[in-house]
Amino acid sequence: MITNKELAELAVKAKSKSIAPYSNFHVGAALQAKDGKVILGANIENASYGLTMCAERTAVFSALLDGKREFVSIAIAGDSEQYLPPCGACRQILMEFCGKDLDVIMVNNNGAYITLKMFELLPHSFDEEFLK
Ligand code: THU
Repeated sequence: MITNKELAELAVKAKSKSIAPYSNFHVGAALQAKDGKVILGANIENASYGLTMCAERTAVFSALLDGKREFVSIAIAGDSEQYLPPCGACRQILMEFCGKDLDVIMVNNNGAYITLKMFELLPHSFDEEFLK
């Protein structure tokens, strides 16, 4: 298992994979599975802007395709002075696939970060229990 600091550094490195010619806002993510494997993600934009995929979701979907089902932490690094929080759509996906106890490490463009639990970022969440 790597530290939050190391995961934050990997998220910063993952920014180089971002394809963001429209917003020029490059985001990287590093998701740590329970078995210690780290899966990277980056935002991917296209000419139909609304189809943009955030860094967090590319990381989660890639990890799921890799067979991972349990996760401990995700680091997200953006291009701004603020610590980058996941957008609303990503919060839903992170909550459903990574769980309420996931550590979310939000990194700023100086490499500093703060950490919150997923349940703090998305209280009263909707999940499959409501569909029964
Ligand atoms: N973006 C992310 O990748 N993650 C976030 O949590 C916030 C926003 C991306 C989407 C878009 O490519 C760019 O940042 C500007 O919104």
